[in-house]
Amino acid sequence: MGCCHYFAATEGGAEAFTVEMPRVTFGRGVLAEVGARARARGIKRAALYTDPYLKDSEHLARARASLAEAGIDVGLFTEVRIEPSDRSVQAAADFFRDGNFDGAISLGGGSTMDTTKGALVYAQYPASFDSYFAPPIGGGQAVPGPVKPHVACPTTSGTGSEVTGLSVILFESLKTKFVLGSRYILPAEAVIDSACTDTLPRMVVASTGFDLLSHAIECYTARAYTRWAKIAEPGARPMIQGANPWSDLHAREALRIVGQYLQRGVADASDHEARDSLSWAATLAGMAFGNSGTHLPHALSYAVSHLARHFQPPDYPRRDTAFVPHGISVILNSPSVFRYTAEAAPARHLEAAQCLAADVRDAAAEDAGEVVAGRIIELMKATGIPNGLADVGLTDSDAPALAESAMRQRRAIGNSPRDMAQQDVQTIFERAVRYW
Ligand SMILES: [Fe+2]
Repeated sequence: MGCCHYFAATEGGAEAFTVEMPRVTFGRGVLAEVGARARARGIKRAALYTDPYLKDSEHLARARASLAEAGIDVGLFTEVRIEPSDRSVQAAADFFRDGNFDGAISLGGGSTMDTTKGALVYAQYPASFDSYFAPPIGGGQAVPGPVKPHVACPTTSGTGSEVTGLSVILFESLKTKFVLGSRYILPAEAVIDSACTDTLPRMVVASTGFDLLSHAIECYTARAYTRWAKIAEPGARPMIQGANPWSDLHAREALRIVGQYLQRGVADASDHEARDSLSWAATLAGMAFGNSGTHLPHALSYAVSHLARHFQPPDYPRRDTAFVPHGISVILNSPSVFRYTAEAAPARHLEAAQCLAADVRDAAAEDAGEVVAGRIIELMKATGIPNGLADVGLTDSDAPALAESAMRQRRAIGNSPRDMAQQDVQTIFERAVRYW
């Protein structure tokens, strides 16, 4: 299934890729190891970050018991914002700095892990918040150096943040999310206890499952690393470096697993085989995109979550304003994106569809986009996902504003296998309004 031709050398293109990974511990019950893991990293006084919904959870109690047993003094921060913002991350950084901690534990979904990564940076290297973000919105400075050790403990099966050096943060003034990327914010340890997902309701499993699905397929269909420009010196190699053999390996397996288990995992919380498998697939997809970057579905998703007019997903706490969970905002664009990008890499799109258990026996290269889109739509229907952007209150007439907002995600847009102008992005949004 390999596709070495995809990585053929190009004039002036990169000739190498770098893989960054934390130590990974995976299994049912491994939250009991978090204390020993933290201790082994030299942590004696830990900031423990979680969100208000997990404050009274069994997962937090288990983590705290393990940390106590290891003799680690803990300061608890339960004010993680779902969809962290510059302001909420700065508050988490202030907590770390004021508490004289020598390490951090995160327990929660992507919001909690991303908050912790940002907190460690701004506690140690204070700067105006946009400094470490890429242009055009940020100052483009690199995170100056290592941060205190972070043991990341995901409780959902989608984000993969436990194994990436990426943190997604909302800029409140711009009402859009941007990515902070640095190898220095890679957690030291990832402790993935799949039993934490037993308590997740259906729509949370569906949304996070589509997040992981899209991570994997975006990595697999991303621009080849050899098509990005060669870097001037080794430290300049970005984490969003394009598809490469490492990301391929993990993306294919993640797609195979999510194609097989997504519906089962959503339908039945007691199906441990399915939920464990989705947890593992989420981590695999993180290992992939943390070392390749995602592309259009993610780049376009931030505009959708910002501009959506109405949506209150079942199984999530109600809010005063529209709220589109991350995985849903991503997958609403995906079928339209892959219909558009397939012509740039048809073999890769067909391989991805095959991993997702689509029937590709009679498919020709020109069918690739439709085959991928068809399989994703089939899974969306089967798991109760909204039918396109119309279901979150967006129409054709919103496409120009959506496209203008999305174009600020410059690196992720550039990671698309097909070159993109703003008009292309607008067309993708127009074709994502209704799918069935
Ligand atoms: Fe994501």
